[in-house]
Amino acid sequence: MASFPSHFAWGVATASYQIEGAVNEDGRGESIWDRFCRVPGAIANGATGDIACDHYHRWRDDLRLLSELGVNAYRFSVAWPRILPEGTGTVNSAGLDFYDRLVDALLEADITPWVTLYHWDLPQALEDRGGWPNRATAEAFAAYADLVARRLGDRVRHWITLNEPSCSSLLGYFWGIHAPGRRSLRDALRAAHTLLLGHGLAVAALRASVSAAQIGIAQLVIPAYPASDRSADLAAAHRFDGVHNRWFLDPIFGRDYPGDMRAWYRHDVPLVPPSDFDRIAAPLDFLGVNHYFPVYVADDPTEPLLRLRQVVPPGAELTALGWIVQPAAFFDVLLRLQREYAPAALVVTENGAAYADPPPQAGRVSDPARVRYLAQYLAEAARAVATGLPLRGYFVWTLMDNFEWNLGYSKRFGLYYTDYPTQARIPKDSSFYYQAVVRTGRVLSPEEWQPPRG
Ligand code: FCB
Repeated sequence: MASFPSHFAWGVATASYQIEGAVNEDGRGESIWDRFCRVPGAIANGATGDIACDHYHRWRDDLRLLSELGVNAYRFSVAWPRILPEGTGTVNSAGLDFYDRLVDALLEADITPWVTLYHWDLPQALEDRGGWPNRATAEAFAAYADLVARRLGDRVRHWITLNEPSCSSLLGYFWGIHAPGRRSLRDALRAAHTLLLGHGLAVAALRASVSAAQIGIAQLVIPAYPASDRSADLAAAHRFDGVHNRWFLDPIFGRDYPGDMRAWYRHDVPLVPPSDFDRIAAPLDFLGVNHYFPVYVADDPTEPLLRLRQVVPPGAELTALGWIVQPAAFFDVLLRLQREYAPAALVVTENGAAYADPPPQAGRVSDPARVRYLAQYLAEAARAVATGLPLRGYFVWTLMDNFEWNLGYSKRFGLYYTDYPTQARIPKDSSFYYQAVVRTGRVLSPEEWQPPRG
């Protein structure tokens, strides 16, 4: 049985748009997701985040779930359009008050708040002015970060600037499957640059007003293995890694954009002042790692822009999203990040899985596949600790089933089952499993662990 250090951060993660609902309350402005959800066909079953988990009203009950789990950390995001309905300018104090109360209640419950400043809900007003591809959005983000830091920074020490800038830029502006739904490589690369610059400026703003701040960024890391040992497939896997991982990690850790990818993207790469890279590389206290799955990549000459495609190896185990379950890849990610980028510390800011959970029975949901997933991935986290990697925390994605972006409510990732019609939260067996891990600081094997009887 593998064990973790005693000061390890054990947590769960959520994001504002995925859980809060109350999109028109207390002065909140419109976000790009409110708008995108209105695009016919954009979201599975035409779902929206209008109500989501109604967390904006039920947050006290949700904090009780955190106490039930026994976690010592909670990662949540602040909705920018609640604080600045127009993106810049007039401050909506009711928005700040909401997070202020949440932080106080967490501290009272002995749970350390980890605040993400941006988890994808850009104010629509800023998208109307060009969105992330517009360089001015970086300054707007820094001003917003400064505002939140001034209000919460006396109590919140742990900050994450951006969640997955690769998704915000690529899914939002290149593939168009996330808000705001644009399809342009040029826009996506501009968006990526503004996001990274905004991150660097926000780090500076946080340092200026939060003493002893612990600051990081949550980067999605997708290890890419070649589909075969053909050299074209090796190159395609390296290219995938360039698109999704290196393009972001390299500048965050003080390098230029990777040269092979600059050459690949050519004139779509924005021309920017070299000094931007100094700002982007603001020193961090930890690298947040969101990890779910690896990919296998083949060269594909028919694919015009990236010339690659993902393949699923025969016999691969998959989650309900078709994501490959391969726990050892998780260890590889942590090891690689330490070797190649040497962050001051690593924190797993998201890890988890969607499965087709059965409906609750007698107030419980049986989810053995998720228990197994967590057990296997936690064992790899423990291996990372045992290997001497500076892993300081682990957050399960996610507390309760919620609005899974373009997939709406069709996929469930929670430790608690959300019964949307009644908004009841019903414990899954995985919640009891995670509770046991947190309590003991040990990864229990699913075989030796029994769900408590109801
Ligand atoms: C991550 C996102 C998170 C959630 C999980 C499943 O990429 O950060 O909001 O959607 O995937």
